[in-house]
Amino acid sequence: MTSSPISNYAQASKTLRQRDLRQGLYDEGAVLMDGVLVNLHGDRHKARRGLENKVFRRDFFRYYEREIFPQSLQQTIDRFVESSGGDLVEFGFRAMMNLTIDFAGMDRPDNSDEENDTLLRLLRIFALGTTLAHAKDDREKVRQQVRDALAEFDARFLQPSIARRQALIDKFDAGDIDEDALPRDVLTVLLRNEDNIDLPDDELLREMAFFFVAGAQTSIHSLVHVMHEIFDWCCGHPEDAHRIAEDPVLLQRCVHESARLHPSSPVAMRRAECPVTLPNNEQVNKDDLIVIDLMGANRDESVFGADAAQFNPYRKLEGSTAPYGLSFGLGMHACIGRNLAAGVIPHADTKPEDHQFGTITLIAQALLAHGVRPDPLHAPEMDTKTERPNWGLYPVLIGDLAS
Ligand code: HEM
Repeated sequence: MTSSPISNYAQASKTLRQRDLRQGLYDEGAVLMDGVLVNLHGDRHKARRGLENKVFRRDFFRYYEREIFPQSLQQTIDRFVESSGGDLVEFGFRAMMNLTIDFAGMDRPDNSDEENDTLLRLLRIFALGTTLAHAKDDREKVRQQVRDALAEFDARFLQPSIARRQALIDKFDAGDIDEDALPRDVLTVLLRNEDNIDLPDDELLREMAFFFVAGAQTSIHSLVHVMHEIFDWCCGHPEDAHRIAEDPVLLQRCVHESARLHPSSPVAMRRAECPVTLPNNEQVNKDDLIVIDLMGANRDESVFGADAAQFNPYRKLEGSTAPYGLSFGLGMHACIGRNLAAGVIPHADTKPEDHQFGTITLIAQALLAHGVRPDPLHAPEMDTKTERPNWGLYPVLIGDLAS
């Protein structure tokens, strides 16, 4: 049985925190998602998350955002400006791919266009694998594509990355190098496996593919949504165009407001581990599917106001409600990369020079600094391969030469 969708914000929040509900969104996508972090439950989830959390620390996010990300973003932006723009979705894939490749721990020995294009192709296939529940194409065909992509990813990227890291770990264990000389990424942490968790080779492969896609796909769609919302907002509020481009705190508020309206998956799903009474008093039995309507809950007027369905970066919220609503999840599966993507929530006394803005704000800032604007001759299109309401093609112009 499937529960009725839970759209009330408070009830949806409580449901996400209920510990006797396990993950239920990825049953269709087991080919990629079987045994990966977001699909684990109970002690196995706790152990894997505890180990991987060693990479996802706030101090490292700050360092990454300030020291490493700007360089790779600059390269991607420069090429986009050179070509006077193009498809924002494709640009987003390239910009975010660098980030998740770094965090997952995949080496790119050639750093050639061919190598990056191959990774981009694999990323797009893995993205289809994570969203199989919403796929419009023949699902068995997609599963076979994912199997082939996993084999290619393993041979060309994962095995060489493992070999290089294992050699470094052996040197560290022998006392020949310091810990600082080890890469700081998920693969290194999993290979060192200081907590001795159980992780067979096939699960490690899927975990790395999942990490590669988990951060990229969500961030890409969030980026394209927020740029669309900003273009739209500035049509009605032309006086804000300059402010949004110049004030990174206001821009980050735009990112959070857009993330609220456009959660990467419109629903979360859980399966009951045992008979459970849900926060809306509905009784469910073991293995029943529970649907949490994130998009609906994030537009709950009792929490976000009468204009909850509209984009408004100046929205005022009561209490501790997050400006992005439930879009980064809550409870045991709450997004591990949230601060990396969305930064820290700004307050009235936030000083931009000390603040962590998150990578989506940084990318949006760089695009706006180069005068990005919708291409008046080519309309954007929604992605027709998925039931998720994402942009599939978003033509933009950028830079002075584009006008
Ligand atoms: C705008 C960007 C992002 C959005 C909207 C987003 C959203 C989410 C959501 C809603 C969940 C919870 C899923 C559930 O409850 O079923 C989640 C989990 C997760 N996210 Fe993110 N995410 C983003 C960026 C990232 C980044 C940058 C990374 C990593 C580099 C990442 C890694 C993960 C992982 C590993 C999990 C699983 C956590 C667990 O099960 O313990 N995400 N994300």
